[in-house]
Amino acid sequence: FDPQRCGKGPHEEAAKLRGEWVVCVEGTVSRRPAETLNPKLPTGEIEVDATRVEVLNRAKTPPIEIRDDLTANDDIRLQYRYLDLRRGPMQRLLQLRSDAAQTARRYMVGQGFVEVETPFMVKYTPGGARNFLVPSRLNKGKFYALAESPQLFKQLLMVAGTDRYFQLVRCFRDEDLRIDRQPEFTQMDIEMSFPEQDDVFTVVEGLIAALLKEVKGVDLKLPLERMPYEESMRRFGNDKPDRRFGLEHVDLTEIVRRHDGGGLKMLKLAVDGGGIVKGLRVSRQYELPRAQIDKLEEFAKGMGARGLAWGKIEADGSWGNSPLNKNIHPAMRGEMNAALGAEAGDTLFFQFGRPALVHTVLANLRVHLGKKFKLIPEYGSGGKWDCFWVVDPPLFEYDEEARQWVAAHHAFTRPQPQCLGMLEKGTGNNAPDSPLREVLCHRYDLVLNGFEIAGGSIRIHDPETQQKVFRAMGISEAEAQEKFGFLLDAFQYGAPPHGGIAIGWDRLVWLLSETEAMRDVFAFPKNQKGVDMMTNAPVAVDERQLRELAVKVVLPDQDKPAPKQGPA
Ligand code: AMO
Repeated sequence: FDPQRCGKGPHEEAAKLRGEWVVCVEGTVSRRPAETLNPKLPTGEIEVDATRVEVLNRAKTPPIEIRDDLTANDDIRLQYRYLDLRRGPMQRLLQLRSDAAQTARRYMVGQGFVEVETPFMVKYTPGGARNFLVPSRLNKGKFYALAESPQLFKQLLMVAGTDRYFQLVRCFRDEDLRIDRQPEFTQMDIEMSFPEQDDVFTVVEGLIAALLKEVKGVDLKLPLERMPYEESMRRFGNDKPDRRFGLEHVDLTEIVRRHDGGGLKMLKLAVDGGGIVKGLRVSRQYELPRAQIDKLEEFAKGMGARGLAWGKIEADGSWGNSPLNKNIHPAMRGEMNAALGAEAGDTLFFQFGRPALVHTVLANLRVHLGKKFKLIPEYGSGGKWDCFWVVDPPLFEYDEEARQWVAAHHAFTRPQPQCLGMLEKGTGNNAPDSPLREVLCHRYDLVLNGFEIAGGSIRIHDPETQQKVFRAMGISEAEAQEKFGFLLDAFQYGAPPHGGIAIGWDRLVWLLSETEAMRDVFAFPKNQKGVDMMTNAPVAVDERQLRELAVKVVLPDQDKPAPKQGPA
């Protein structure tokens, strides 16, 4: 709008323009003089000498600034998502997600897979995640469930002879939300006929390697490592460990048992009651003053622990002023130190009791310390891409509340053949030490930098094994027929052995993007309470709509809106 080159009119019009206005400009495109070239701008080599400017739309002052380094709070970003998305980094995330999807589709089709769409509105089946329900107007009093995954349909496609299926598919789960969970999310869902576990791995490894190459330029070394589930729990306390740093757990249960508690009554009680004792060593190179240790104890209590036992190693191997030091027998203390590789100046942390709680507390403590000591970044890869399989997990897990063994995944996961004897032996035995706990299965999870990015299994395809598993789960034939009848029927018409996997697409794209929050790779995400801050969904609906659906809302007292305060 240089008045000399463009004239006074356009120059004056241009002075009225404001940020975020939409304008149409006519003019002559010319090369910039050498001294004004700007290689940082895509248009930095040209100039438009404007002859006319027309305002197509004005803009109110936006509630968030449209700039790359915005630090506005999350609620306002979510409320004005269309403005947040206008920013460069957000547009680049949309682009990355689109690129990843195209790469994946090309790869899958190249491997002979067919993309098939499956229904979202399905029959409710128990097990797995909690479903959202959809009332049917045409069939009053009846409900669809929103599919938590296409699991049963992809198995039916195998019976249908599809052979190799995939789908980039939306899934719906009414779960408590966490950093890596949204109520509606996307899977790259895969199923194959006649596969060995290795065949599924080969397909998925090729896909992940292609994506890492395309998006990050990183060469992933294949085949990926496989870690037994048991080892993962033992060393890291969970089945999706971040192995980019150490601070591994050490099981001390046997030592404590051998010393009958070693003078510590709490440890004795824990071990006698079927619990475990585990420890974690922090090297003396990391500062951990007492005040910090107290904070870590609060952190542990926040996860339901009763406390966090600790010891700070003195030159003589004693545990300084730790509350445990007074009563512990030096012989047991010495063995514990040795097992943990502890030397003077190191700090030890312990958890004992129910395995599930011990593992949760120590696993979270490990990651917390890893971030605190900057062994891993707060988010992002830090240049390390640790991707591996966790294999051979147990088929059942113990439900402490119901006091019974339940399916750890779904009822169609194939038990490993050498465990079929245990399966029969354990059927009907719901004690915590039932042989059912030793039944391993052909399930596998893929882990990337401490997140589970995929999970799947080889399925049961023969009715005999299926009956055995149902029986072990306490599901009667009639019940199985009612719940999964359509699938069991289908299996009677010649079902090929099959298996597959689903990649958590949002999680994977998120990790590839190295952005802070998973919701940033969703164009329109929900907040931690499952609310869409832009539209306010979910909302109450009017009586007429409910009547049409034959649905009545009965709010529990605590969820009722507060009564209006009128004048006294
Ligand atoms: P699974 O339940 O393990 O398996 O899910 C597969 C992957 O989906 C991702 N994921 C999620 N991502 C974002 N938000 C969520 N709420 C969420 N829940 C799960 C995870 C997970 O590894 N039908 C089986 C697959 C199979 O057996 O083939 C299934 O859905 O990354």
